Amino acid sequence: MTKSFLTLNFALWLLSSPAVATVFNSKAELPEDVGDKYDFIVVGGGTAGLVIANRLTENTNTTVLVIEAGGSNVNPQNLNITAPFLTTHASPGGPFDWNYTTTPQLGVSNQSIAYPRGFVLGGTSSINSFAYTRGTSEDYDRLANVTGEPGWSWDALQPYIFKHEILTPPADGHNTTGQLDPSVHGHHGLLGTSAPGFSQTNFDFRVIGTTQADGFSEEFPFRLDMNSGENLGIGWQVSSISNGSRSSSATSYFEPFMNRTNLDVLLNTRVIRIVSDDTDDEVDSGCDSLSIHTVEIASSADDTPTTLTASNELILSSGAIGTPQILMLSGIGDPSSLSSPSLNISTILANPSVGQNLSDHPAASQIWLVNSTETWEAFASTRNFTGFDSALEEWENERKGPFSDALFNQLGWLRLNESDPDVTDALTEFGDPAAGPNTAHFELLFSNGFLGDTPATGNYMTILTILSTPFSRGTVTLTSPSAFQPPLIDPSFLSHPFDLIAMRAGMLSARRFVTSPLWSDYVISRTDDADSIDDLDVFIRNTTRSAYHVVGTASMSARNESWGVVDPDLKVKGVEGVRVVDASVLPFTPSGHTEAIVYILAEKAADLIKEDWGL
Ligand SMILES: Cc1cc2nc3c(=O)[nH]c(=O)nc-3n(C[C@H](O)[C@H](O)[C@H](O)COP(=O)(O)OP(=O)(O)OC[C@H]3O[C@@H](n4cnc5c(N)ncnc54)[C@H](O)[C@@H]3O)c2cc1C
Ligand SMILES: *[C@@H]1O[C@H](CO)[C@@H](O)[C@H](O)[C@H]1NC(C)=O
Ligand SMILES: *[C@@H]1O[C@H](CO)[C@@H](O)[C@H](O)[C@H]1NC(C)=O
Ligand SMILES: *[C@@H]1O[C@H](CO)[C@@H](O)[C@H](O)[C@H]1NC(C)=O
Ligand SMILES: *[C@@H]1O[C@H](CO)[C@@H](O)[C@H](O)[C@H]1NC(C)=O
Ligand SMILES: *[C@@H]1O[C@H](CO)[C@@H](O)[C@H](O)[C@H]1NC(C)=O
Ligand SMILES: *[C@@H]1O[C@H](CO)[C@@H](O)[C@H](O)[C@H]1NC(C)=O
Ligand SMILES: *[C@@H]1O[C@H](CO)[C@@H](O)[C@H](O)[C@H]1NC(C)=O
Ligand SMILES: *[C@@H]1O[C@H](CO)[C@@H](O)[C@H](O)[C@H]1NC(C)=O
Ligand SMILES: *[C@@H]1O[C@H](CO)[C@@H](O)[C@H](O)[C@H]1NC(C)=O
Ligand SMILES: *[C@@H]1O[C@H](CO)[C@@H](O)[C@H](O)[C@H]1NC(C)=O
Ligand SMILES: *[C@@H]1O[C@H](CO)[C@@H](O)[C@H](O)[C@H]1NC(C)=O
Ligand SMILES: *[C@@H]1O[C@H](CO)[C@@H](O)[C@H](O)[C@H]1NC(C)=O
Repeated sequence: MTKSFLTLNFALWLLSSPAVATVFNSKAELPEDVGDKYDFIVVGGGTAGLVIANRLTENTNTTVLVIEAGGSNVNPQNLNITAPFLTTHASPGGPFDWNYTTTPQLGVSNQSIAYPRGFVLGGTSSINSFAYTRGTSEDYDRLANVTGEPGWSWDALQPYIFKHEILTPPADGHNTTGQLDPSVHGHHGLLGTSAPGFSQTNFDFRVIGTTQADGFSEEFPFRLDMNSGENLGIGWQVSSISNGSRSSSATSYFEPFMNRTNLDVLLNTRVIRIVSDDTDDEVDSGCDSLSIHTVEIASSADDTPTTLTASNELILSSGAIGTPQILMLSGIGDPSSLSSPSLNISTILANPSVGQNLSDHPAASQIWLVNSTETWEAFASTRNFTGFDSALEEWENERKGPFSDALFNQLGWLRLNESDPDVTDALTEFGDPAAGPNTAHFELLFSNGFLGDTPATGNYMTILTILSTPFSRGTVTLTSPSAFQPPLIDPSFLSHPFDLIAMRAGMLSARRFVTSPLWSDYVISRTDDADSIDDLDVFIRNTTRSAYHVVGTASMSARNESWGVVDPDLKVKGVEGVRVVDASVLPFTPSGHTEAIVYILAEKAADLIKEDWGL
C-alpha cells in the first residue's frame, strides 16, 4: 500500500515536470566545465538556502548552484519525513540527521545531549516538528535596534512575513474560526501552513477550556493568534503542514520550481572550506577586504577536493552549526584556536566572534497519567498495531487522521510571574532577557500523549516547558581541520543561574495549569516524584534537552560594532563576496520556534542580494 502509493506519487511528480533543474546526485556527476558557471553558489540546501535559491532564480538570467551535504528528500520518498506525526522517527539519529551530540553539559547533570540537524534537502525544515511561530514584534525590533538597521524591525519585515506563507485548510477540514486570525497570515506565499489537522479531542478542549476557566484565565489567557506580533497567552498552534503532509523549504521552495533550468542542485557533497581569490592572503592586516568566491567540495574525507567559483557571491546557508564550522575551517575565526597544533589552520581573517554567542532553548517535559483512552497511546507502534496501522492507512489514503497532525496542538507563551520572589530577585539581579515587556519568557507545549518512548501501559499527557529567553551562551569550536569530523557543540545549557530559576518557574506554571477543574476527572497523577523545589531542580537538570532552536554562532551586528560576524546586509565582515543567510546570524533566540524567523530572514536576504546585483 505505502510503496505503491508513494511510487505512483513520485512518478506523477516526475511526469509533471518535463524540463527540470539538474539535480546532481554526487560530485562525480558534475560536468567538467562547471567550475565557474554559476552566478551564485548557495552552501547548504536547507531551510534558508532553498529560499535564496528560489528567489534568485526568479530571474531567468541568474544561475544558481545549491550544494547540499545530505541527499534527496523525495527520492526515495520516506514516511518519517513526510507524515507529520512520524517526525519523532526522523531524528535524533537515522539517515536524515547529522547525529551531533553536545559536549557533557555541566548544567544538565553532565550529560551529552542529542543535537539533531537535517542532513537532507530542506535541511532542518525536513525533520523539524512543524511549530510555526514567528516570535514577537519586540524580538524583531530588538534585532533592528542591535544592528542599527531599521529594515529588520517587525513593521519593515511585514512584506516578507506575508510573502513566504500560504495558510491552508487543516487536514480534517474543520472550521478554524476562533482558532487563528487569518488577517495576520500570508495567503499567497509558498510555505504551506495550517491549523491542527486532528484536534477535536477531549484533551484539546480541556487545554483551551482552562484558558477560559475562572481563576485560570488571568494566568493562562486565551490567545487567538500567537503570530500577530504578540504572543502572550495560550492558543492553537499553526504548523508548517499542508495537505496533511510536511511543508519544508524543499517541498515548497524547490519541488514546485524544478522546471527552472537556471537552478541546479548538487547533493551528497560537502563544502569543506571557502578559499580566498588571492591565494597569498594570510593574516588580515585589518585594512583591505578579503575577496572570496570559491568553495572547495568533497564527497568524503579521502576524496580529492574540487573547486567551484561563483561569479557574483557565495551564500553560506549551512545552519548554526555548519556555517561557523565552514568559516573556521577556512581560516576565519579566532587565530589562537585556529593555530593550535591539533588544527594548524592558517588564519585568513581574524574574528573571534565566529562560533561564539550560541543560544538555544532548553526544554523539559512533565508527564501525567490520565483517565482517557483517546491519547497517542491508542496508535503507538509499540502498543497497538491495529491502531498504528489504521492511522497509517488513513494518512496514506486520505492524508488525514492522527498522522496528519504535529506533536502539539496548543502552545502557551508566558511571562515569569513576578509574585515569585526567586523570579523577582533574578530579574533584578540579571535584568530581563526578554526582547520587551510583551514577550514571553517561557513556553508551554501540550501533547495528547507521552512525549518520548511510549511506556507499555497507561495513557498520558505531556506539558513541555521551553525557556524562550535564556541567558546562557555556548560555542561551536573545531576539533579537527577536517569537514568530515563534527565540531564541538557546547550550548552551556542552564549554566547561567537565571535559566534554572526561570525553567523551574515554567515547570511550576505547567503544574498549576493542570489544577484547573477541567482536569479533575482527567488527570490521575504526575509521573515524576520531584515534589519539593530541590527535587524539581534536580529533575530539571536530569531531564533538560534541547528544543533544537540553536542560533547566534555567526551573529549579525551593527557595522561599526567590534563583535559579530556579519553586518546588517548579512555580508561577512571584512570579506567581499560572502554572505551568511541562516539561523546562525540571529544574535538572540526569538520568543518562538526558529523556522518562521529563518524563512522571513531568508526572504529579506534574497531581496538584499537582488538589490545589490540589480536583479
Ligand atoms: C528535531 C527538530 C525539531 C524542530 N522543530 C521545530 C519546530 O517545530 N518549529 C520551528 O520553528 N523550528 C523547529 N526546529 C528548528 C528549525 O527547524 C531550524 O531552526 C531551522 O530549520 C534552521 O534553518 P537553517 O536554514 O538555519 O539551517 P538548516 O535548515 O539546518 O540548513 C542547513 C543545511 O546546510 C547543510 N550543510 C551543513 N553543512 C554543510 C556543508 N559543509 N556542505 C554542504 N551542506 C552543508 C545541511 O545538511 C542543511 O541542509 C527544529 C529543529 C530540529 C532539529
Ligand atoms: C536577460 O539578459 C538579456 C540580455 O542581457 C536581457 O535582454 C533580458 O532582459 C534579461 N532578462 C531578465 C529577466 O532580466
Ligand atoms: C522510520 O523510522 C523508524 C525508526 O524510528 C525505522 O524503523 C523505519 O524503518 C523508518 N521508516 C522508513 C520508511 O525509513
Ligand atoms: C547519521 O547516522 C545514520 C545512521 O543511523 C547515517 O545513515 C547517517 O548518514 C549519519 N549522518 C551523517 C551526517 O553521517
Ligand atoms: C563530566 O563528564 C566528563 C566526560 O564524561 C568527565 O570527564 C567529567 O569528569 C565529568 N565532570 C563532572 C563534574 O562530573
Ligand atoms: C536601541 O534602543 C535603545 C534603548 O531603547 C535606544 O536608546 C537606542 O537609541 C536604540 N538604538 C537604535 C539604533 O535604534
Ligand atoms: C465557521 O464558523 C464561523 C463562526 O462559528 C461561521 O461564521 C462561519 O460561517 C463558519 N465557516 C464555514 C465555512 O462554515
Ligand atoms: C495541496 O494539494 C492541492 C491538490 O493536490 C494542490 O493543488 C495544492 O497546491 C497543495 N497545496 C499546498 C500548499 O501544498
Ligand atoms: C515553470 O512552471 C511555471 C508554472 O507551472 C511556469 O509559470 C513557468 O513559466 C515555468 N518555467 C519554466 C522555466 O519553464
Ligand atoms: C602546520 O601546517 C604547515 C603548513 O601549512 C606545516 O608546515 C607545519 O608543519 C604544520 N604544523 C604542524 C604542527 O602540523
Ligand atoms: C487500538 O486501535 C484500535 C483501532 O484504532 C482501537 O479501536 C482500539 O481502541 C485501540 N486500543 C487501545 C487499547 O487503545
Ligand atoms: C474516569 O473518567 C470516568 C468518566 O469518563 C469517570 O467516571 C471516572 O470516575 C474517572 N476516573 C478517575 C480515576 O478519575
Ligand atoms: C536524577 O538522576 C539521578 C541519576 O540518574 C537519579 O539518581 C535521581 O533519582 C534523579 N533525580 C530526579 C529528581 O529525577
